[in-house]
Amino acid sequence: MHTTDRPLRAPGADIEAKPLLGAFLDRPTAPAPRAALANRSWLLRALTVTGLLVVAAAITFITTSDTTASLGTSIEECAWAALEEHVSLLDVPPIPRSEFLARQQRLAAALKAEGVDAFIAEPSASTAYYANVSAAFDLSERPFLVILDSRAEFSYLVPSFEAGRIAALDMVYDTKAVIQWDETQSPYAVLKDKTKLGRVMVDEHARFMIAAGLGGAGIEVVPMSATVQKLRAVKQESEIAILRGINRFTRQLVRALRPCIRVGMTQEEVTQAAKALFTRAGVGEGFWAIILFGDQAAFPHGGKHGKTLQHGEFVLIDIGSSLHSYGSDVTRTVLPPSATVSKELLDMWHTVHAAQSAGFELMHPNQTCSDIDAASRKPVEAAGLGPYYTHRLGHGLGLEMHEHPYLNGANKEKLSIGEVATNEPGIYVTTEQASEIGWKTGFGIRLEDPILVTKDGGEPLTGRRALSPYDP
Ligand SMILES: *[C@@H]1O[C@H](CO)[C@@H](O)[C@H](O)[C@H]1NC(C)=O
Ligand SMILES: *[C@@H]1O[C@H](CO)[C@@H](O)[C@H](O)[C@H]1NC(C)=O
Repeated sequence: MHTTDRPLRAPGADIEAKPLLGAFLDRPTAPAPRAALANRSWLLRALTVTGLLVVAAAITFITTSDTTASLGTSIEECAWAALEEHVSLLDVPPIPRSEFLARQQRLAAALKAEGVDAFIAEPSASTAYYANVSAAFDLSERPFLVILDSRAEFSYLVPSFEAGRIAALDMVYDTKAVIQWDETQSPYAVLKDKTKLGRVMVDEHARFMIAAGLGGAGIEVVPMSATVQKLRAVKQESEIAILRGINRFTRQLVRALRPCIRVGMTQEEVTQAAKALFTRAGVGEGFWAIILFGDQAAFPHGGKHGKTLQHGEFVLIDIGSSLHSYGSDVTRTVLPPSATVSKELLDMWHTVHAAQSAGFELMHPNQTCSDIDAASRKPVEAAGLGPYYTHRLGHGLGLEMHEHPYLNGANKEKLSIGEVATNEPGIYVTTEQASEIGWKTGFGIRLEDPILVTKDGGEPLTGRRALSPYDP
């Protein structure tokens, strides 16, 4: 799952000194030098006492002055020691120019087959895919349109005064034509006049004003077809390599983080450490995280700030980042090494795991998305918890964090080899609802792996699914 980033809380806002001090005190202290122990002089004893006071004062100073920084740093350092060896997973080349040109050819063939003259898009995941025009380009009220026609020719429509700025983008094309409009003209009329386009397919993310403008200029507009949608949903080898790299790394990050989490820590401290780890590995840009303890995890997209981890609670970690603009999206519900939960709660974890397995077993070519979603609900329904599995099984993952194909109850689309979709069942019971199932406290459990559809079935792009809360 993924949602827009919540702003991180300011450091130092809500850390209790107690658990930190506990952490210091739990550490084995260095053995005192024998000579000092043997010496009984009052002077030395006084000096020792003074020394202890200085140490105590120093600890107090550290714990009260900069608790978040020191504790956040200690989680980060603890996890980095285990994560560092996995940074090489990120050594994957970006999409080569030849692949962009091949995409333009595949699109042209599809347009031709559908009797459409051209595909038109605003800066979006589609332009990033076909022409390396980033989805991050700011849209304005003045249209900047990327046009790929059924002969695989590339052109763009641009306001004259912006032509220089746009020409400087790292667009990929074989040959290009630039169509400029100035402020005395209708951009759509200029486009019609210069290109003679009769029938165009408009990208699903283009704004309605674009479709309306084209229509108003006498160009027939058709919506994006399922065939064209599939072109980007089906991943090529270079994309799969990137998705594998970033998703495997993301799982390793969760694995490295887990043993460093302690009772008493706040959700925000763990979030900060996760972000610092991605940044240290060089992929902090696209970072986002949902880290929830205990009953806070009953809200799939996050609960309140400042919650500290208690004994008997799960830690839900849903995080991702991006590599060469391709996303990672991984969720694990874990327990730190010495922590435990009730048997009932542990059984619940295994019910979610069974739901994930049931979906996974069907993530084969030609299986229908709604059937896969339905299969994943069976184990949860058998446990009497059907109503608490509140969202779809998953979503496609690529240049967008959520894209086609969607694994939900209404989608009759069939999976194809090369498609990637998350498999992320969950059970969510809020503390308010807990009495409905005879419990006192709420909880939330989710497990998520992006799965590549291959001819032999599903491949978890994380490298491996979770085995237990202690082995994510
Ligand atoms: C695509 O754009 C990025 C960012 O501007 C650039 O680094 C990369 O070299 C471009 N790719 C190609 C194949 O030109
Ligand atoms: C999927 O279905 C299509 C059309 O029915 C068929 O041609 C293809 O062989 C099937 N693929 C697999 C892997 O079963």
